[in-house]
Amino acid sequence: MSTPLTLSAEQPLVPGWATGTITLGCDYNPEQWDESVWVDDIRLMRELGVDLVAINIFGWAQLQPQPGPFDFSRLDRIMAMLHEAGIRVNLGTGTSSPPPWMARIHPETLPRFADGTLAWPGGRQAWCPSSPIFRQKALELVTAMAERYGDHPALALWHVSNELGCHNALCYCDVSAAAFRTWLRQRYGTLDALNTAWGTAFWSQRYGTWDDVLPPRATRSAGNPAHVLDFKRFSSDALLEHYRAEESVLRSRSSVPVTTNLMVTAHIQTQDYWSWAPHLDLIANDHYLDHRLGDPLAELAFSADLTRGLAAGRPWMLMETSTSAVSWQPVNHAKREGELVRTALGHVARGADSICFFQWRASRSGAEKFHSALLPHSGTAGAGWAQSLELSALLDRLSPVVGTRVDARAAMVFSWQSWWAAEGDAQPSRLLQYLPEAHRYHRALRSLGVTVDIVAPGTDLAGYDLVVVPTLYTLTDDDARAIADAAASGATVLITPFSGIVDENDAIRPGGYPGAFRELIGAVVDEFRPLAAEATVLLDSGRRARIWSEQVRVLSAEVRDTFVDGPAAASPALTRRAVGAGSAWYTATVLDDESVLALLRELCAEAGVPALEVGPDVDIVNRVSATERFTFIINHRTEAITVPVAGHDLVSDERIEGSAVVPAGAVRVIASGRSDRGH
Ligand code: GLA
Repeated sequence: MSTPLTLSAEQPLVPGWATGTITLGCDYNPEQWDESVWVDDIRLMRELGVDLVAINIFGWAQLQPQPGPFDFSRLDRIMAMLHEAGIRVNLGTGTSSPPPWMARIHPETLPRFADGTLAWPGGRQAWCPSSPIFRQKALELVTAMAERYGDHPALALWHVSNELGCHNALCYCDVSAAAFRTWLRQRYGTLDALNTAWGTAFWSQRYGTWDDVLPPRATRSAGNPAHVLDFKRFSSDALLEHYRAEESVLRSRSSVPVTTNLMVTAHIQTQDYWSWAPHLDLIANDHYLDHRLGDPLAELAFSADLTRGLAAGRPWMLMETSTSAVSWQPVNHAKREGELVRTALGHVARGADSICFFQWRASRSGAEKFHSALLPHSGTAGAGWAQSLELSALLDRLSPVVGTRVDARAAMVFSWQSWWAAEGDAQPSRLLQYLPEAHRYHRALRSLGVTVDIVAPGTDLAGYDLVVVPTLYTLTDDDARAIADAAASGATVLITPFSGIVDENDAIRPGGYPGAFRELIGAVVDEFRPLAAEATVLLDSGRRARIWSEQVRVLSAEVRDTFVDGPAAASPALTRRAVGAGSAWYTATVLDDESVLALLRELCAEAGVPALEVGPDVDIVNRVSATERFTFIINHRTEAITVPVAGHDLVSDERIEGSAVVPAGAVRVIASGRSDRGH
């Protein structure tokens, strides 16, 4: 792992980048340490085989302790030391958190919550995304950084800010209000168009002048959902604009690739990353196991598949993850024996060619002092360091997979905008939540050994055999057409409830739900009949369902299941319509996990997608090149599993004949020649 930075072998994402091994990287915060510690750090980084180090992520207050000139002396020294050690630098522009003087001298840069409360400095990201003063100060720093380090021989990657929107995505201050109005003028042109789009005839909300338009601040009643949806779009765009402002300064002074670390995760939903992705030279994601969720490993797989979608199938970078516990969940679970390797490989299996950690050396002070690190508080003596060494050696052995693509015959259409809108204030049921629906179907496919490409609405789905469309509440006509085309050209398409209900302005598509898919599914929903929190309904098949039921009228579909009881008793609950060479299935309820699994088993059989009953605690994913196939098997279980695959195991360096026995908690990456082309 001491070779140069690697992203992709077959199709380098960034021309000129060296290729050949999986990159091992980390965040490093030298500001927190005396320079004598740096020497030790760099020696140990070399021992571990660290290729790429992210620095200056939170460096601004050290570079500019007071307004005025920058002091780059310490940054110069650490850049030189890393270069001398052959370690490449992922250089933070340093703008993620301003120094304390910013709030004192420019308090108008502080963001405000929806109720008008000020977000004070003292944590991080205390800045309004639309603040011109913050932008100006940040760009002064970026300009100085680009001029000083743009050609530095250690520089491999520019790292704009850090996790843009982690804490400051939605700002409701007056500065944001003005920026929101500018954004709306660009979107709608005239106030009349805005009034129409937002349906402001309702509740006396019609605007007579632009100046009256505000962010959707805290109100006594539900707000206007179209207003809220546009504010979320604006807020995502405001941060993207900030990224692009920094990016443009960097590109004008440096030819080194530019990216930022995204947060494709269950607890952050404020950025529509489909619109961000084209502006990043490579897609980089931060992912941590979230123990607040029912199945954190299934969420890891979902996040990695979605990150690959953002990368349009190309290899991507895991920019941050943890070696063990984090420090920001209610209970911060340490990783169990072998879990570091299993989770890291979970990302590699799903397309990551770089695995980087937050952070190198565990901090002694500050809010993250209990966060794990490659070099833990126990130093090199404890088990933590030994695990870091083990992972590094393993990543070395996986070099042949670099640049290969993940093989998937199933797709899921995912939409941040539907996530925002479907969970608005005044929906038929708060219990129907977007992400859990997407997770449930993805988790079931994973437990059938089926890999899923997660794609944007409107993506051409030709070539996929199975397409799952969970709760795609808002979409355009073109998005709907892409899904219908997939069915017509042979895919089995499954649409789940509360999809295709509204247009892009959150206005109902008239004529009976789901307006965008009525024709495709050959059925119409006359009324939503949601269920009480603990209620379940029985279906004719014996399946049970929760949360949601509907009064469905079939037009041209076959009825595959029916509600036996509950508010929609006797109504169809599952329908199928033959469409061209494929089919469109519709489920009118929230099936329980077992029923989702049974349904997907049936759909895979119809679609000709091979399924393997591996269960929810195993990952099986194939990465392929023109000539080779690498089958990743990650066994999170406490007993061994047997998988029918033969070849050479890169992990154990053994020949596997017939089938692979993967011991409890173990991983295998089996290289074999390609006999089929898959998707
Ligand atoms: C994110 C941030 C890091 C750090 C880690 C802790 O990834 O980018 O600065 O806070 O979380 O898990």
